[in-house]
Amino acid sequence: MLVIAQITDCHVVEAGRLLYDSVDTATRLEHAIAHLNAMRPKPDLVLATGDLVNDGLPAQYDNLERILAGLDIPLYAIPGNHDIPSEVRARFCQHLDAHQADVGPRSRARSGDTSSLDYVVELGELRLIGLDTSVPNENGGQLNHHQLSWLDATLGAAPDVPAIVFQHHPPFVTGIAWMDESGLADSAAEASVLARHPQVAAVLCGHIHRPIQSLVGATLAMVCPSTGVQVALALDGTPYGYVDEPGSVGLHLFAPETGLVSHISQVGSPTPWIPPWARELL
Ligand SMILES: [Fe+2]
Ligand SMILES: [Fe+2]
Repeated sequence: MLVIAQITDCHVVEAGRLLYDSVDTATRLEHAIAHLNAMRPKPDLVLATGDLVNDGLPAQYDNLERILAGLDIPLYAIPGNHDIPSEVRARFCQHLDAHQADVGPRSRARSGDTSSLDYVVELGELRLIGLDTSVPNENGGQLNHHQLSWLDATLGAAPDVPAIVFQHHPPFVTGIAWMDESGLADSAAEASVLARHPQVAAVLCGHIHRPIQSLVGATLAMVCPSTGVQVALALDGTPYGYVDEPGSVGLHLFAPETGLVSHISQVGSPTPWIPPWARELL
């Protein structure tokens, strides 16, 4: 069985600073990393699905790099709308070789960073496909036609090997209106690619800072909560609300016989306890 952990929306800022002067996202990420390092069975790898820092600044990536050095599990990262793809690639993707990484051109680039970070991790019984949905200078996400063609061809090259796609922006509308305003543009285009490749077990996402699931065609897409700060479950249109719910990580179990089973694990959850009726069974 493969154990795939997920961290997302860490929103780390410079060392010694708090996010919005109120949330210590760096310490919360450190706690999430300690939580993952202590898990048994230990995860085989960790996917980081974007918004790793808050403002894309080098000093924030320095702080993130320092914190992630404490993770003793291999990490695979893709950018979110708060990230700079070239920073993510330079600092956290050195272990990807030329066959794994494909940095495609952006047809719509408006900043100096004109690359996207899309790649495949071949694990034998499972393939992990990272997609960069970030758009320079935008909060919303998009996959351009180069990326969609690459996804289609990549999935088509191994139709019998189960695959997991991971990306920042979820390809569905969540019902939290102010977050949906920065959703994935033309998610139907990605859905039509996924519909041609039923071996995709799931699309693992971030961006919304809450646990959410939806079917995209016949493919399950899931949003993992943030390690640092959660968005309020506001379905009445109330905008910009955050809520002090615990930081969390995702835990995705995969075996060819059982397929994919996904859990959310809250960081700092209390130690499990055993009720009296069960003690005599031990
Ligand atoms: Fe985020
Ligand atoms: Fe985001």
